[in-house]
Amino acid sequence: MRDLEDLRVEFLGRKGRLAGLMAELPGLDPADRPRAGQTANQVKAALGALIEARQQDLERAGDSERLAAFDPTLPGRRPPAGSLHPVTLVIDEICDVFIGLGFEVVSGPEVESDWYNFEALNMPPEHPARDMQDTLYVSEAVVLRTHTSPLQIRTMKERTPPLAAIAPGKVYRRDSDLTHTPMFHQIEGFLVDSHSSMADLRGTLTAFVRQLFGPDTEVRFRQSFFPFTEPSAEVDISCVMCGGRGASGGETCRVCKGTGWVEVLGCGMIDPNVFRAVGYDPEKYAGFAFGLGVERVAMLKYGIGDLRMFFENDVRFLEQFS
Ligand code: DAH
Repeated sequence: MRDLEDLRVEFLGRKGRLAGLMAELPGLDPADRPRAGQTANQVKAALGALIEARQQDLERAGDSERLAAFDPTLPGRRPPAGSLHPVTLVIDEICDVFIGLGFEVVSGPEVESDWYNFEALNMPPEHPARDMQDTLYVSEAVVLRTHTSPLQIRTMKERTPPLAAIAPGKVYRRDSDLTHTPMFHQIEGFLVDSHSSMADLRGTLTAFVRQLFGPDTEVRFRQSFFPFTEPSAEVDISCVMCGGRGASGGETCRVCKGTGWVEVLGCGMIDPNVFRAVGYDPEKYAGFAFGLGVERVAMLKYGIGDLRMFFENDVRFLEQFS
């Protein structure tokens, strides 16, 4: 290719041989000039065509050489694939379990009125139960929802029983340390019917944790307090780390701190005052409710030690869930 270009310059270039001949034309006998000029032009065109043809030959040869070196059976290069966030994976998995149990999925606003977030859930203004949740206020009567429980109120107000729903979503609290981030995820669940009891609650939640954490998971209900349920309970499962033994490899289990149990959710029978707030007759209906922290479940399920990893968006962490 280089040689060919050299030849082109030598013969056809601005200072090439042909240009030299052309420069001599004015010195010729005027009678000979037209013929000489014509011949020179013919030679120029012929040489140009030859060089052009040769150049095309060489280019084609180069192409086929490159083609011969190309292996069309090689696998393509995959662009890096995205994956679902572990929080999304756990939400989807939990929703699937409850959909299988006949619950529907509902959602609502993250900016919520004081009434839905607190008051209708049996937490009147100035009630000390509000101190359980460090709240981010947007204005005096508007908050970033501190839990997904307002979806109980929103759903009940829209429907008449029987109803069973779960509500996954983001919640916000003025809280930040190793085990708390100002934004995290909860799933609320609730069922209202003319005849539901604590036994239904126990059966439903036991079926749920066994699907999520394995059929051998032990379940324990501990009495507790929530303003919107009466009676209330907290649900513990046998520790996912040590299998409930409280120790592994001769050392006290870090996850359950040696107790053999880890807390996974809060629950209870819906308080009559909650029914009154949505206009249900508490004599006619009974229901249960529960709430769980998604990140906490994900940490237990995947053995993650630091809550903040969920929100640092380090690809090395996130890739492990794809
Ligand atoms: N809303 C509670 C919280 O964020 C969690 C909770 C507890 C929800 C008990 C419930 C329940 O529905 O029955 O701390």
